[in-house]
Amino acid sequence: MTAQLTTAQIEIRDLHKAFGDLEVLKGIDMTVERGEVVCVIGPSGSGKSTLLRCVNLLEEPTSGTVVVAGSEVTDPDVDIDRVRRRIGMVFQSFNLFPHLTAMENLTIAQRRVLRRDKEEAARIARANLKRVGLSDKETAYPAQLSGGQQQRVAIARALSMDPELMLFDEPTSALDPELVGDVLAVMRSLAQEGMTMLVVTHEMSFAREVADRVVFMDGGVIVEEGPPASVVGAPEHERTRTFLARVLDPAAAPLRTEEAEEAPPGTGTVRKDG
Ligand SMILES: Nc1ncnc2c1ncn2[C@@H]1O[C@H](COP(=O)(O)OP(=O)(O)O)[C@@H](O)[C@H]1O
Ligand SMILES: [Mg+2]
Repeated sequence: MTAQLTTAQIEIRDLHKAFGDLEVLKGIDMTVERGEVVCVIGPSGSGKSTLLRCVNLLEEPTSGTVVVAGSEVTDPDVDIDRVRRRIGMVFQSFNLFPHLTAMENLTIAQRRVLRRDKEEAARIARANLKRVGLSDKETAYPAQLSGGQQQRVAIARALSMDPELMLFDEPTSALDPELVGDVLAVMRSLAQEGMTMLVVTHEMSFAREVADRVVFMDGGVIVEEGPPASVVGAPEHERTRTFLARVLDPAAAPLRTEEAEEAPPGTGTVRKDG
């Protein structure tokens, strides 16, 4: 069924996802209304990325329904490419084409997927580079940009496709700390412009200031959700309190134990900025 089922931009009902025997999402219900900013927080391995990836079918849910902008993406007959075009996604790793300039990174999908002509694609690209504060970097290659600048190019690239909603998966986690603020500022202004945003982040100050709602996930379930002042400011559940204590004081106990164990020696979780 592809009829308008809801006015929500994202509606997730009883979503389950397993990888073999590993049950990663154990019945997620979530709604994101048009213009709403929802931040998802939770420990490494709790299923946050899998949840986002189920929204645009980078992962196929095991069961449950996901409706995005009125289209049920879990309908086997859905035109998923058409739905994906309406969803902008920004990952931790920026995924820019290294052999293309910032401008070319922004125009290539506009031309190939949306069939825009060269001039229109360039005009839209320029407007979006300006939006993220990088008008002077049109001709720069990714290697000539800092990590923060690359991530802002990645956001501008997503915006150039005129998405109806944006998914962010830990967009600042790979950045050196001094570069995080510029990326968050771009996200904050997007939120103020009314973009619908589902954001996985460990940036609690961003969640507190920008999110309409915060969702705390642990072990493949939503433990609690509500306004940031409640979930981050005065959490009800012990698991939420434990998590927040670790995020706010990482020295007290490592938050990302799983990732630290998985990473090859010397790679760390913080990307060097080039
Ligand atoms: N493609 C996959 N195949 C097998 N297991 C996976 C896959 N993707 C994620 N997982 C596992 O699912 C769990 C949740 O992962 P993820 O959604 O990335 O969590 P988070 O983003 O909260 O850190 C982890 O145990 C992870 O190892
Ligand atoms: Mg993740």
